[in-house]
Amino acid sequence: MKLKKLEGLLGDLDQFSDPKVELEQYPTGPHVASRLIYTAENSFGDITGKVVADFGCGCATLGIASALMEAEHVIGIDIDSQSLDIASTNAEDMEVNIDLMLSDIKGLNWRGPLVDTVVMNPPFGTRNEGIDMEFLKTALKVASRAVYSLHKTTTREHIKRVAIRDFNVKKAEVLCELRFDVPRLYKFHRKKSVDIAVDLWRFVP
Ligand SMILES: C[S@@+](CC[C@H](N)C(=O)[O-])C[C@H]1O[C@@H](n2cnc3c(N)ncnc32)[C@H](O)[C@@H]1O
Repeated sequence: MKLKKLEGLLGDLDQFSDPKVELEQYPTGPHVASRLIYTAENSFGDITGKVVADFGCGCATLGIASALMEAEHVIGIDIDSQSLDIASTNAEDMEVNIDLMLSDIKGLNWRGPLVDTVVMNPPFGTRNEGIDMEFLKTALKVASRAVYSLHKTTTREHIKRVAIRDFNVKKAEVLCELRFDVPRLYKFHRKKSVDIAVDLWRFVP
């Protein structure tokens, strides 16, 4: 599937109806999500025919994009059941199969690498300090091929240091920098939207 077609389809997905501040529920927009999944497949062959997990899937934009790019099997995991309801409707509307699982990523007790690839837009850790690194630690335990993740560009050096020193990754590279539009979902945002720079990372466990 072409990038523009993928982006167009993702633009039709429903997003959080009642976003929860404490869970940092802002959607991974179609522009960012399509580029993440397209790059993962076209540059590295990490999606098509692979078992893919979408961590903190929310409305499942990344998981559905993986299914549209013909992943063999997709599992979306989120701590919030309302988001999983929206994810389920989105998958039905797109006529793709994804398994949805209600779980706290921190409590995910999968043993060993059960999936090929993890794709994720974790909470940035603004409301729950350190949750971004908890996601990364768990993702690296369960993926055999690669982990794709979005993190604020301001945290680049920290992420690289921790991934190499504490999580023992074979490779940690920033594939590109993207503009991430966080809509004014919350009262404490004064502007209509906040445009932040995020890094698209690829980690090899
Ligand atoms: C930035 S949003 C990701 C949005 C998603 N990619 C989408 O497009 O809808 C972060 C997601 O992580 C979920 N989340 C936050 N803390 C979590 C945890 N401890 N375990 C699992 N999911 C969590 C939130 O509910 C939210 O859906």
